[in-house]
Amino acid sequence: MLETAKLIKLMNEGLEMEYASQIQYLTQAAITKGPYAEGLMARFKEIASDETEHAEILRNRIVALGGTPTTKVGTIQIHKDSLQAVKINLKYEKDTVDFYRKLLNLIPHDEVILYEGIEHVLQDSQEHVEELERLAGK
Ligand SMILES: [Fe+2]
Repeated sequence: MLETAKLIKLMNEGLEMEYASQIQYLTQAAITKGPYAEGLMARFKEIASDETEHAEILRNRIVALGGTPTTKVGTIQIHKDSLQAVKINLKYEKDTVDFYRKLLNLIPHDEVILYEGIEHVLQDSQEHVEELERLAGK
């Protein structure tokens, strides 16, 4: 059975994370310096636009479930050193993947709009992990 209240609560936690990560990536894009700044800036901004889309998916699905989308923003971590910033983002994206995997497991497959929405967010997050691992030289 779909436990709607629990699902709404978890999706609002996800929405807080999406808001925080969007600000985090955009701020890091703005402050990044050094020989790789241009590439990092482009990548961070591209990921930030994915986070904007994720937040929209979560907001719409929370409303569809009868909930109220949060306006809270989660914890933001900024580092002026570009490599450290990449590592912070990599850790964040790995945590995000774990979070959405758990969330996806709570959603019945026949709830297709919700299921596919979260699956899409999970897929993007896994792609972000791969991209950031490459930037981190892993
Ligand atoms: Fe995201």
